[in-house]
Amino acid sequence: MTKTILMCEPTHFGIEYEINSWMHTDNSVDSVIATKQWQDLYGIYTRKLGWNVKLIDPVKGLPDMVFATDCCLIKDGKILLSSFRYPQRQPETAHFEKWFHENGYTNTKLSEHLFEGGGDNLVCGNKILAGHGFRSDPAAATEMREYFDCEVVSLKIVDPNFYHLDTSLTVLSDDTVAYYPAAIDEASQKRLKLTIPNIIEATHEEAKGFGLNAVSNGKTIVASNESESLLNKYRAAGFEVIGTSILEFRKSGGGAKCLTLEMS
Ligand code: ARG
Repeated sequence: MTKTILMCEPTHFGIEYEINSWMHTDNSVDSVIATKQWQDLYGIYTRKLGWNVKLIDPVKGLPDMVFATDCCLIKDGKILLSSFRYPQRQPETAHFEKWFHENGYTNTKLSEHLFEGGGDNLVCGNKILAGHGFRSDPAAATEMREYFDCEVVSLKIVDPNFYHLDTSLTVLSDDTVAYYPAAIDEASQKRLKLTIPNIIEATHEEAKGFGLNAVSNGKTIVASNESESLLNKYRAAGFEVIGTSILEFRKSGGGAKCLTLEMS
């Protein structure tokens, strides 16, 4: 299945502030390596998979704009724009909104609650798995329910190293999810098990490699190659896997999925 994706080149990417446990301003990014890792991911999407990748111009002073998935959640042609928790990221939304409107995506609404788009919210078939705890407000789930008119399963994140849901949970197909259980509380783990028929569990070690921060079209999975054992679990479940390094982006708490806004 071909996908349409929006990405933002890492021209201005860096660690300029600390808003999650991975970020340390003294652990600076090697721009040459970051650019290569980003280009490799872009090449996997465009050349290997033949997906349609669109680009938004990076903006100086917005080092995290490269994590395009965080700007909104898109479902059935409707776009709910993010209201970022931290002031450092709040200006990103207007740039993405402008891009959407200039490119014919006019069905947008700004979230009324703290809401970090694809960072915390994952579409799974006709449902949305919605994380809260560190960034998004639980009230955003109610707003999504109304706006997208679908079931929203609320999951409480409890481990600060996995501050966004997409760092500890990935939707591999409409009925298969992989996740690191201890990143969310026990009640949320139960809710997830009641909702999703096939669940692959990752260890803490595997999760730290950012292979759960994955992009899948239901057949092929693109993810960090840091943890081969996790990629092997994906293969054993019948998926094709393309591993790639994203380590410069992990310095900011991000991986392959964070760099990728899935538009369709
Ligand atoms: N430094 C960024 C932040 O803390 C990383 C965001 C990664 N995005 C994601 N979808 N997990 O906001």
